[in-house]
Amino acid sequence: MNLILLGPPGAGKGTQAKRLEERFGVVQIATGDMLRAEVRAGSEIGNQAKAIMERGELVPDALITEMIAGRVARPDAARGFILDGFPRTVVQAEALDAMLKAHGLRLDHVIELKVKDDVLVERISGRYTCAGCGEGYHDRFKQPKVEGVCDVCGGREFTRRADDRAETVAARLDAFHRQTAPLLPYYAAQGKLRSVDGMAAMSEVTEALAAILSGQG
Ligand code: AP5
Repeated sequence: MNLILLGPPGAGKGTQAKRLEERFGVVQIATGDMLRAEVRAGSEIGNQAKAIMERGELVPDALITEMIAGRVARPDAARGFILDGFPRTVVQAEALDAMLKAHGLRLDHVIELKVKDDVLVERISGRYTCAGCGEGYHDRFKQPKVEGVCDVCGGREFTRRADDRAETVAARLDAFHRQTAPLLPYYAAQGKLRSVDGMAAMSEVTEALAAILSGQG
């Protein structure tokens, strides 16, 4: 089962992808995480992407398609994959179509998580992660059970993303509306698009997604 989770920054793509990964045994492929790893490694791709990401703009299509080329055909994706943050432009969607065709693969679902812009800003600006294991938290919506201690690994250090500042969030939302929203009619025309209410509680969103993936939604 191969799917795309489509939605604006903070819609819950990463949160839900991790849950579906566990439940359905498919692998999450998140271009934002891949880019942040490249930035940390100081690679050529990372050096090109860093300033663009910090401004909240999209990195060039050619750089993304080069980074992700062949990723869907790696052994860990054999049982299926969830694309989180890719494609983000029509050019990237066309590149993905070509990539899938070349490997004899197909997309089963494209699911849009719908969330209003004002809610997105609150979600993103309150988000932080455990520096040790990467578990995600939120100032309001998901706090550790013991204050300052990660529920998963017991770590006491937490980080916030460089692009989660309020002014950058506005630029990221603008990029979504201008460059990524045109993917909705693109996939609707292929008869693949479904929408889920991403404003619902996290577990309700998970169940709505699981119902679609199990053919019951
Ligand atoms: P990327 O890392 O992909 O960021 P994004 O799309 O902006 O998405 P986020 O990770 O911010 O949000 P999310 O939807 O995963 O939400 P989350 O689950 O964390 O991209 C970063 C940058 O990299 C881009 O700006 C661009 O520069 C570059 N880039 C990446 N891919 C690219 C591409 N293909 N082309 C070009 N450039 C690319 O949830 C957010 C918060 O809300 C969390 O705290 C969570 O706990 C909370 N939350 C989630 N769901 C709910 C809920 N139902 N109720 C309440 N709270 C919730």
